Amino acid sequence: MSVKACKPLENILKDLSALALLPLEEATAMDPGVYTSAAFLALEREKIFQRQWICAGLSADIPETGDYTCFDLDSQPIVIMRQSDGGIEAFSNVCRHRMMTLLEGSGSCRRIVCPYHAWTYGIDGQLIAAPQMQERPDFRKDEISLPKIRCEVWHGWIYLTLDQDAEPVSALLAGLEPLVSPYNMQHYVPIARQQQVWSTNWKHLTENFMEGYHLPVTHKATVGGYFPLEDTQFSEQKPDPAFTYQFFTKTGDAPVGTAHPDNKRLKGKQRRTSILPTVFPSHMYALAPDHFWYLSLQPLGPGEVAILYGAALAPEVLAASEEPKNLINETCSFLDQVNAEDRMVVEGIYRGAQAPLSMPGPLCWLEKENHEFTQYLARQLCP
Ligand code: FES
Ligand SMILES: [Fe+2]
Repeated sequence: MSVKACKPLENILKDLSALALLPLEEATAMDPGVYTSAAFLALEREKIFQRQWICAGLSADIPETGDYTCFDLDSQPIVIMRQSDGGIEAFSNVCRHRMMTLLEGSGSCRRIVCPYHAWTYGIDGQLIAAPQMQERPDFRKDEISLPKIRCEVWHGWIYLTLDQDAEPVSALLAGLEPLVSPYNMQHYVPIARQQQVWSTNWKHLTENFMEGYHLPVTHKATVGGYFPLEDTQFSEQKPDPAFTYQFFTKTGDAPVGTAHPDNKRLKGKQRRTSILPTVFPSHMYALAPDHFWYLSLQPLGPGEVAILYGAALAPEVLAASEEPKNLINETCSFLDQVNAEDRMVVEGIYRGAQAPLSMPGPLCWLEKENHEFTQYLARQLCP
């Protein structure tokens, strides 16, 4: 099969900025080169993933002193560690001796021991032991520590950035705060955290999350029937440069996604309403009164995306359950099924975008956020 040749980067960017200026009623999907061009990806890495805040999961994933989780941000391996004062710090996960990576996955430790020559660091990143190095007179272990990475926790989400000058998350997301606060999501209890690699461009998955248009079709076997599309509500305010969102109100008979009777926080229609924020570039979550699930994405190549995926249940849902283990297993397998449905389409779109005859078509009113995403990309990438 012949693969579509990408336009030169300069032309892709010119078309992207022209598309971003159009109103939604005249807008189309983005050019295939936005997804398939290696030069476009290199620019995204430089201007987006090496500069902006990327979500590394939930603070509740590492509740106790010494609990840690590893996360690669662009090409920087990072360890995120719960400190003895209850705070969270993030460090370069690379040994200060001969640059071996230190920890892997998630776990709990009292100190970090390099698997190569056993240089040993405290959970605060300070070097505390280095075998045989006392033979070297100029060696001062108190002058060696793991470089810190900027890390902020916002409503339970851990965000990381490689940019020392990035605006604080709390300022960036100030407009999202009143919309998500009533749910109390920072108290939801994590039930899943996994990392996966899918064969698609990261933006296909972001865009897929942003529109409910596909729900009755792609998800007809799972959640499709419980979202009347005409009830989709977008923000009526001027789009925020840092995030976008929509609300969905479920039908009363939906098996999940509505408030538990013990939930006294949410009132009226809010008890059946979920908010689906996308924090640019790639943190998306579906926050329902009884659970949430989330994605955080980073590109590994034009056609390969690293996905951090997780889910959590509202505390009153778990507390009232007679069989919490079964509830967790059922919720996880239901969400896995929904994910598999999305995987089928987003991998299909990437194959489609490479086809010689592929061309972008007009957007539907339900794809309002997709056009905001086009505008976000144009702001970040176009000269
Ligand atoms: S590379 Fe870590 S101790 Fe040598
Ligand atoms: Fe979906």
